[in-house]
Order: sequence, then structure tokens, then C-alpha cells
Amino acid sequence: MSQPVYTPNPDFVSKARVSGMDAYRALYKQAEENPEQFWGNLAETELHWFQRWSHVFEWNPPFVKWFVGGKTNVCYNCVDRHVLAGKGDQVAFHWEGEPGDKRTITFNDLLALVQKFANVLLAQGLKTGDRAIIYMPMIPEAAVAMLACARLGITHSVVFGGFSAEALKARIQDLEAAAVITADGGWRRGKEVRLKDAVDEALGECPTVKTVVVVQRTKSAQTMAAGRDVWYHEAEANVGDTCPAVELDAEHPLYVLYTSGTTGKPKGILHTTGGYLLQATMTTKWVFDVRDGDVYWCSADIGWVTGHSYIVYGPLSAGVTGVIYEGAPDTPGWDRWWEIVARYKVSVFYTSPTAIRALIRQGDQWPAKHDLSSLRLLGSVGEPINPAAWEWYHRVIGKDRCPIVDTWWQTETGAILIAPMPGATPLKPGSGTLPMPGVIPDIIDLDGNPKGPNQEGYLIIRRPWPSMLRTIWGDPDRYAEQYWGKVQGVYFTGDAARRDEDGYFWVLGRVDDVMNVSGHRLSTMEIESALVKHPAVAEAAVVGKPHEITGQSVCCFVTLKRGDHDVEALGKDLRQWVAHEIGPFARPDEIRFTEALPKTRSGKIMRRLLREIVTSHTVSGDVTTLEDMGVINRLASQQDED
Ligand code: WT7
Repeated sequence: MSQPVYTPNPDFVSKARVSGMDAYRALYKQAEENPEQFWGNLAETELHWFQRWSHVFEWNPPFVKWFVGGKTNVCYNCVDRHVLAGKGDQVAFHWEGEPGDKRTITFNDLLALVQKFANVLLAQGLKTGDRAIIYMPMIPEAAVAMLACARLGITHSVVFGGFSAEALKARIQDLEAAAVITADGGWRRGKEVRLKDAVDEALGECPTVKTVVVVQRTKSAQTMAAGRDVWYHEAEANVGDTCPAVELDAEHPLYVLYTSGTTGKPKGILHTTGGYLLQATMTTKWVFDVRDGDVYWCSADIGWVTGHSYIVYGPLSAGVTGVIYEGAPDTPGWDRWWEIVARYKVSVFYTSPTAIRALIRQGDQWPAKHDLSSLRLLGSVGEPINPAAWEWYHRVIGKDRCPIVDTWWQTETGAILIAPMPGATPLKPGSGTLPMPGVIPDIIDLDGNPKGPNQEGYLIIRRPWPSMLRTIWGDPDRYAEQYWGKVQGVYFTGDAARRDEDGYFWVLGRVDDVMNVSGHRLSTMEIESALVKHPAVAEAAVVGKPHEITGQSVCCFVTLKRGDHDVEALGKDLRQWVAHEIGPFARPDEIRFTEALPKTRSGKIMRRLLREIVTSHTVSGDVTTLEDMGVINRLASQQDED
């Protein structure tokens, strides 16, 4: 099997933070042989601590603590220390709204903004240890709100603005949040996304929420609940300019981010302070090779983990200038991103394979309109990148000049675990290449036996790492079972992968009932629970169907309750129903009505067979446990008629 290998060019290597494979191997070896010393040294040189830790880590499987006894503050590390070091006039963010409005925010400005914001939160009665939901468009105040929470030790949970009121409510309730920070709305494809309306809808059943802070963005009309809702711009006028960063324990809960698991209920992934920040900072430096003069742009939304670790915390802690863009990539035209790259002279650009495939479809004329010569490094995240998309990204965007870092990680891992170091690692399109220092992955079977070269198996991680999730909020048993209980003593990623003869990792996709749509995780169970809430639906089974652009799309098999149904109208209605229950991004691509679902004799729906039907149009695997083969034959032939 011959495949192209792209070795880093000597010029890139000579300037890189990690220069050449020997340098990478030396780092990897140090971390593997002496993790205490490795991470302890980095914590000391890379972060500011108010008080030093007594132990680098304490591992009581499956629970870990890093930098035990240490005191620090994430916001102080991301903002204050850069100002104190004389970088106050450097731009922290170039921000651009979808309508074309612009703001430039220096580290000095950012320090002023976060202190004001923190004082507003204090004035609203919030305190260290409280939880706050952030439900915002991609405006600077979204990052400022996160940092202000971090400054005070208020644990934040950012809910992506594409989630519906129902999904928002479930997260507020699970977290018992005391506050919601939101905006009137944001701009997306020229339309207002009305966030405050969704908050009002959600809050009917959220007694813990005492206050709603509303940032004005679109200036649309809003009803403000007296005694509960405050406009940020009014509250800000009544508070002071300074607010010290609270000295927090290294294990203080920084944020909870909900992600889909294999049940209907999303999991609140908990990340803490010191270890998280250290690994987010180091991977930003190792993988994106950032340095003074770089302009770094990650196109993700702040509502996903990528936005947390690689728009806000990692890059700010590393002191790099960033870009934030509010809107859609096709507004007003499909060259919006390239216009932004040219305007701010973006040098490092990080996006998803789904976005790349959507851009490919629009044609090379869009990037050709703009000067992309500032780019020196490209990144990819969220799903496996197919080699054709990789080659296009490399050639048309990177002009055959920019390395591509394909970064494998998860909401749970907090930071990139498998990725190239661009000044060291030879690249193979489609592979995340090699593990980061301190990360010991392996490919095994369910009995724990390692797989040989090129054999497919389960991707696992052998040792705890600093930015690892600490637990599932409110459910330590589910945490222990889901991540450390599948194979005793190792972290189970839920991904299938193989490792080639050079030790390169090739991630193949999820092995559980989790779909990956546009690089976002969606649970089949979550969509099934939404569907069966509909009065006409008896049963539902949801599978991911291969999709040219989004990787997978949501395909639902539905049986109906007795009665007359207008299936065409109902199909539309059910798609809308799911969008309302979860969010527009979860809207099913297809609803297929069927008389019955394939089940085992014990009544378990065999989703594997449905997956085969939507992928290969036939069923080839083991069907001996199937109760009624007729169901499968009918479903498979129904497919041919489409
Ligand atoms: C799942 C995690 C990490 C931020 C975005 C998604 C898949 C992620 C890659 C990659 C192949 C990838 C995995 C993983 N995934 N990055 N570079 N190559 N697969 O975060 O929603 O927590 O999803 O995304 O399947 O388990 P997430």
C-alpha cells in the first residue's frame, strides 16, 4: 500500500518550537519515563501559580487530581499575566460580526472587559462555586463571560447557540445553575437567532436560576422579567473597574460541557483548573506552533470543546493573537472565510473536515479571489479527514506550503491527544499521526489484548493526563463505568482505530451508538427519545448514514401508532419536532416509516442491521439473533425504491 508522506520543509523545521523528530521523541520519552518531572517542570515554567502544588498528580483509579494543593487562576493566566509582562497593547482578538461590524480587542482591553463583567456577576449575587450557563452568539462577550466566570471560580457551562430551549432547559436543570448569561440574539445567514426567547422558554421550569444577564447584540425588542433579567450595558455602568482574580485550587471546577453519550441523557463533562490549562496551553504551542506575530483562527463555535480549548483558553494562555467570526461561512458569499484570512493576515487556521468538504463543493474560485499567502499552518478536527479533502486543503488553501495538523481528541480529553508536531512529524493524509507527550494510547480488543500493526481495535489511553475529564457532573458511577469500566484500568475512547507499521494512528470512527454529524457528536438514543415523545410515534431507531459533506447524517426508522397518518406531512413534522427538542443542527435528514423494526428475540432493536441497510443497502453480518427476517427484507427493498 503506497501512500503519500509529506515531510516538513527545512525552513518550517528550523523555526518550529519542536524542531525535528529527535526533539519530538525526546519530549515523548521524558514524559513517558517521568511524568511527575515532565508536567511539574512545565507547570512551573508555563503557568503562574499563587501557591505551588505539593504533588504533581494523585491517581486513585478512576479519579485523578493534578497539581494537588496548588493555587492558580485560569483567567489570570490568560489575561493579567500578559498585561503584566508588557503585552497589553498586543491584539488578543480581531472580531468580526456577520453583518461586517468589527472590533479589535487588545490584552489591555480584555483585562478591562473581564473585570467589568466579573463585577456585574458579583453585583448579581453570584459567588465562587456557583454555576452559570452561557448561551451566546460568537461575540467577544462570549469569551469575556467565560473568562469572567473563570476569574471568580464560577463554573460555567456554555450551551451552543444552535441548541433549542428544551436542550437548554435540561442543561440548566442538571447543573442547578444560578445564572444564565445570554444575548438578545446573534446573526446567522442574515437572520437573527433569538437567544433570549429560548432562555425565557426554558426558564419556566428552572427554579435555581436567579438572574439572567443579557448582552445587547442585535438590538431587537425583548421582554425583560423584572427582578430576574438585567441588560449588561445597564448593569456595567454601576460597577467598578477592577476585580482581582480569585486564587483557586488547581482542581476547582472550571467548566462543565455537555456532550452526547449512548443514552438519551447528555453527559456533563467536568474539567478543572490547573491540569486543564497546562495541557491546553502546551498543545496550542506544540501542535499550532504559535509564536509572536502569529494570527491564529479557529473557526469552531465557542459552544463546543474546540472553542473552549482552542479559541479561548489555550491560545490566550499562550498569548497569541486570535480571530473570532460571528456568522456563517457563506454569508454574504462562499469566500467570507478567505476574505477574513486575507484581512487579518491569518497565519494558523483550524477548521473541520465537514467545512472543508462544503467549501470544495463550492469550487476553487472562492479561495482564488483572496491573498492567502499569510497562512503557514492548517489544522483539522472533529472527524476523520478523508484523503481527498486533505489534499484539497493542502493544495488549494495551503498552496502546497502549509503542513496540516489533523488533531484527534474529544470533549472528555480536554486537549489534543494525537496529532503531528508540524516541525517534526512527517504527515500521512487521513492519519492523526502520533501521540502528544504524556499520552500513552494503544489499540486493544475487549479482553485488553493489544492488537498488532494495522489491526483494527478499540482506541484506549493507558494513563491519566492533566486535562482529562474528572467525572460526569453528578454521576461518578456513570463516569467510572463508561470510561474506565469497559476494559479494566484503561480509558475507553469509544473510537475504533488501527496503528500502522510506523506507529501512526488511524481513527476509523465511533464504536458506540454515537453519530458524528458535521464534527458534532449526536447520540442516536437522544434523537430516539425525542421522536418517541411525539404522539404519533410508536418506536424509533436512529442510525448515522454516510454523507458526502457532513460525514454522517441522521436517518430515522419510525413505526407509527394505529390510526390514519399523512406520512408526508408527518415526515416534515417529525424533522421539525427533533429540531425543536434538541436543536436545528440535529434535524434528521431522513425519516423512514416502517411497519416494524428489526429486533432480537429478547426485543432489542438491532441498529447494526439498520446501519448496514443505510450504508451498503444489504445485510451481510450475523442475523441469527433476528426475530423476523421479513422485516429486514422489506426494509432493504424499500431502500431500492428510493
Ligand atoms: C469524537 C469526539 C475534539 C473536538 C471535536 C469533537 C471524533 C475528533 C477527530 C480526528 C478522527 C476525530 C472521534 C472522537 N474525532 N477528532 N482528528 N480524526 N476522528 O469532539 O464531540 O467530543 O467528539 O470525534 O470519534 O471520539 P467530540
